Amino acid sequence: MNNNAHSTVSDVSRAPGEKEIKESEPMVRVTNLVKSFGTVVAVNDISFEVKPGEIFGLLGPNGAGKTTTVKLLLGLLEPDQGEIEVFGLNPEKDEILIKQNIGYVSEEPLIYKSMTPRMLFDFITSLRNLDPHETTEKLRYYLESLEALEYYEKLVATLSRGNKQKMQVIASLIHEPDLLILDEPLTGLDAKSAKVVKEIIELHTERGGSVIFSTHILEVAEEICDRISIIDRGKLVATGTVVELSKMANKIGADLEDIFLKLTHQDESVQKIIKNLRNIMKNNKK
Ligand SMILES: Nc1ncnc2c1ncn2[C@@H]1O[C@H](COP(=O)(O)OP(=O)(O)OP(=O)(O)O)[C@@H](O)[C@H]1O
Ligand SMILES: [Mg+2]
Repeated sequence: MNNNAHSTVSDVSRAPGEKEIKESEPMVRVTNLVKSFGTVVAVNDISFEVKPGEIFGLLGPNGAGKTTTVKLLLGLLEPDQGEIEVFGLNPEKDEILIKQNIGYVSEEPLIYKSMTPRMLFDFITSLRNLDPHETTEKLRYYLESLEALEYYEKLVATLSRGNKQKMQVIASLIHEPDLLILDEPLTGLDAKSAKVVKEIIELHTERGGSVIFSTHILEVAEEICDRISIIDRGKLVATGTVVELSKMANKIGADLEDIFLKLTHQDESVQKIIKNLRNIMKNNKK
């Protein structure tokens, strides 16, 4: 067990507007999770908890291990070591029960290329045993909010990247799950649609739902997440609110970019890269 790299602070201070998360049984508890692919340790001794009503960010650069963590939580991959509890259940034993109450947006765009969104949603409605009338009402509301009603009957293969993503987001919501697991959910969305999806996520947590939000985009994590775990090369570097993370990095008042670079020990190397780039580009001046 290696807890050295995982810093926490005890004095919890909230920034203005930061919401209070109630202390209660976590929706998700991950303990000392390890997953390797051959010699690559994709997830290396990661532990965190997600509370009801919380938007929990998994933030890290490309290849950090975010998607692998998400797939372990969903039972799509088996861990080498460690424990996972979702709603107090084990994903390997209670996969169906857990999946009934999770909405998942994968990082790949919708794969059901020869279906229309209507066919896909009908399929989900029957699979999840949802009330068809109620679900159609909900679908209309979501499709209208995301300006995607006109694509309802079009083949998924013919939809743009962003419109496919909207359908994937809607598909994750229609059964009103307690937990949303969203892997880069804003990918491909225009500013207005991204804003609507962020609003939907907020409303979901106001009803007591939780969100695991995986992203490599610092601004998005800073804007939307109540707490963030920074993951770097499979290791969990730190977990906390932006205020807590800034304290850990001795960078109070700094933006998440500076905090992130400090906590992942990349601040000096970035300065060096920038300096080298400046020199090269100056010397190549026409
Ligand atoms: N099926 C696989 N087989 C082999 N290696 C894999 C597999 N899936 C992931 N990896 C490796 O595990 C590491 C973590 O990958 P992962 O997809 O979890 O990263 P990520 O944080 O989601 O990155 P991104 O921001 O690019 O989506 C990477 O080194 C990746 O190459
Ligand atoms: Mg990923």
